[in-house]
Amino acid sequence: MTITNGYEQSDRESKLDILNLPSLEDQARKIIPTGGFGYIQGGSEDEWTLRENTEAFNHVRIVPRALTDMENPSTDTSVFGIDLKTPIMMAPAAAQGLAHSRGEVATAEGVAAAGALMAQSTYSSTSIADTAAAGKRADGSPAPQFFQLYMSKDWDFNESLLREAMAAGVKGIILTVDATVDGYRESDIVNNFQFPIPMANLTKFSEGDGKGKGIMEIYAAAAQKIGPKDVKRIAEFTNLPVIVKGVEAPEDATLAIGAGASGIYVSNHGGRQLNGGPASFDALHSVAEAVNGQVPIIFDSGVRRGSHVFKALASGADLVALARPVIYGLALGGAQGVESVFNHLRDELLIDMQLAGTATIDDVKHARLVK
Ligand code: FNR
Ligand code: LAC
Repeated sequence: MTITNGYEQSDRESKLDILNLPSLEDQARKIIPTGGFGYIQGGSEDEWTLRENTEAFNHVRIVPRALTDMENPSTDTSVFGIDLKTPIMMAPAAAQGLAHSRGEVATAEGVAAAGALMAQSTYSSTSIADTAAAGKRADGSPAPQFFQLYMSKDWDFNESLLREAMAAGVKGIILTVDATVDGYRESDIVNNFQFPIPMANLTKFSEGDGKGKGIMEIYAAAAQKIGPKDVKRIAEFTNLPVIVKGVEAPEDATLAIGAGASGIYVSNHGGRQLNGGPASFDALHSVAEAVNGQVPIIFDSGVRRGSHVFKALASGADLVALARPVIYGLALGGAQGVESVFNHLRDELLIDMQLAGTATIDDVKHARLVK
């Protein structure tokens, strides 16, 4: 255990023997301090959308196929020109130092070891450069990462972050657009939660590094209005794919692509923002129809089973992301814990692929789901 500013951080480093991802939450609750756990686990208001995110996968069913003469399915895939061993990726998540003393550096190591794609947050506990340098593929080459930008009102600060991300070799920029204000997070209010550790990328920020502040205050320094022109500006400045995260309305997908977005990220922020909105999975199909194959789609919110990954891919997603279970794995086992979470979810997906007669991820994308 490491103590930082009076906050207890796990130092664990071990592979995990996982029964299922939902069971990790209670195990992590036992080692992440109350305030940090509440911030990670919590959703907004009465958490209806948070619960619906996972429940919604039961609204459709996978049709099993038997006489397909198929065996040894593969989860290999390629998206945004990036070859991956799995379509499962790490969603951007702030302040992973709340779960483990090595924070996003350990997460990046575990995600890379699983052959997956990592996204790092503007509000990470570790720097862009350190997090990017941590992820190595099996051959020692840098593992692929996206950088997620929370646009600040201060455009010079945005550019400094983007320059650092470009220099670190990120393969894309995720622009999060569903958090122009903070959702009403009652766990944080009850716990009077304020970040005990700094956010590495904010140390140069005029509004301070986040330590001693709640997420509402930190968001207040971010941009309150984001529009298509911001998508265009970031795409032109970085010349990298810009993926717009937090889309549930088909209209926003159309606006984003029209402004130059190279990807659409369907998400409701894991039920942490607008409570009472649709489950992210219930929004996916209509957004995928509007996107109509123009750009890749990333999906997240509520993914806990291989069958959830399967259903999202069969409903239009090209990559499927998750956050909370990975952060719990980080607390429970560090980089190896993160790798264990990705490998467990991929193993569940492989069973579903075999039983659905889908040998490849492309077959899954064309699989039939029934209501
Ligand atoms: C998040 N999320 C998030 N999203 C983002 O764009 N930037 C961020 O910094 C964060 N930070 C963050 C912290 C924590 C603790 C959580 C749980 C989530 C949202 C995240 O990317 C993703 O959309 C949801 O978390 C997905 O839902 P699940 O898998 O966590 O249920
Ligand atoms: C959150 C922000 C940081 O969900 O995205 O806490």
